[in-house]
Amino acid sequence: MTDLFSKFDPLIEQREQLLQSGLTDPFNLVMEKVESPTVAICNGKRTILLGTYNYMGMTFDPDVVAAGKKALDEFGSGTTGSRVLNGTYVGHRAVEQTLRDFYAMDHAMVFSTGYQANLGIISTIAGKGDYIILDIDSHASIYDGCKMGDAEVVAFRHNDVEALEKRLKRLAPEAGKLVVLEGVYSMLGDVAPLTEMVSVSKANGAMVLVDEAHSMGFIGDHGRGVAEAQGVIDDVDFIIGTFSKSVGTVGGFCVSNHPKFEILRLVCRPYVFTASLPPSVVATAAASIRKLMDSADKRVHLWENSKRLHAGLKQLGFRLGTEEPQSAIIAVIMPDLETGAAMWEALLQEGLYVNLARPPATPAGMTLLRCSLCAEHSTDQVGEILGMFAAAGRATGCIS
Ligand SMILES: Cc1ncc(COP(=O)(O)O)c(C=O)c1O
Repeated sequence: MTDLFSKFDPLIEQREQLLQSGLTDPFNLVMEKVESPTVAICNGKRTILLGTYNYMGMTFDPDVVAAGKKALDEFGSGTTGSRVLNGTYVGHRAVEQTLRDFYAMDHAMVFSTGYQANLGIISTIAGKGDYIILDIDSHASIYDGCKMGDAEVVAFRHNDVEALEKRLKRLAPEAGKLVVLEGVYSMLGDVAPLTEMVSVSKANGAMVLVDEAHSMGFIGDHGRGVAEAQGVIDDVDFIIGTFSKSVGTVGGFCVSNHPKFEILRLVCRPYVFTASLPPSVVATAAASIRKLMDSADKRVHLWENSKRLHAGLKQLGFRLGTEEPQSAIIAVIMPDLETGAAMWEALLQEGLYVNLARPPATPAGMTLLRCSLCAEHSTDQVGEILGMFAAAGRATGCIS
């Protein structure tokens, strides 16, 4: 018998080697208590959270928490059914209306996760004989959506408008084409040149889908994302988003103005063949999204945090993923996995949690310490974070 697990041996060995050196497992940290969007207790120690996707700090918002409790009391713990059977409650309709209002779009469809939204929308709208043209650094859920469907997949170099145009021009003018982009790329925190990319896509007869998972709530005057900030939101055919980041709960969605959009509720398998979100979750999401509409001050503070951390880390001598801060994600590039893991551990000892990211999730084989800021981080906390980076960086030899 061939052990089907033998393919994982190299990874098992690498992991064992790392842990033998006495390091804490960076992929197995337990939050013993979560005190706020920015502070938790880990290993009995107060830890500043700089590796969550809680960009707008909505998880402890009193109105959001109250909405969830009320729905739990009134509707119970779960729907036990698909949206197309017994799983559509008033709360599901209400959160979809909230999304239509938030984006000022005609249609909104809520999935159980953002992962499923990409799986469902991409695999359903691009079928046999169609083409998906995507950025090579696309999120796993985009790639998995491509795999699940029958379209031909063509990748182009990250954020390269010319490469996208070249790929599009090679395809037959009458072929169905879907260009898939992200607003913010979550590994390096860089933003896509959507103005040019959407224009090139439209000029070549393609529909455009933009995943705004890491920009919703924060980027753009109304927090609608990079497409809004760059003035092309009206030319984007589909926006994918998630409730698991700025919204502060779990769930995914697609919004669109396409006149035939509603048919997707009957043909999109990751929407049909899974249970709908619990009533408490959709209630917290709706309350949170309504508040995000009115969060301009928080957006300003989050930009200040992002600029301050980026400048401070650069000054300390760290190599960063972008020259200038472009989003709430600041990626610190580590020379290798061992140094990255040592630095991650040293930061944790200092009382700071960041994300350790490694291939295949990262581009170009990089090991990254990904810092994601929150609108609830105070200016003092950002100062504290910089002090911790300075101490850990010197202790591990990352900086002199
Ligand atoms: C770009 C992007 N799209 C989609 C998702 C999936 O979101 P969810 O956590 O709701 O499944 C993520 C999550 O990491 C993401 O980064």
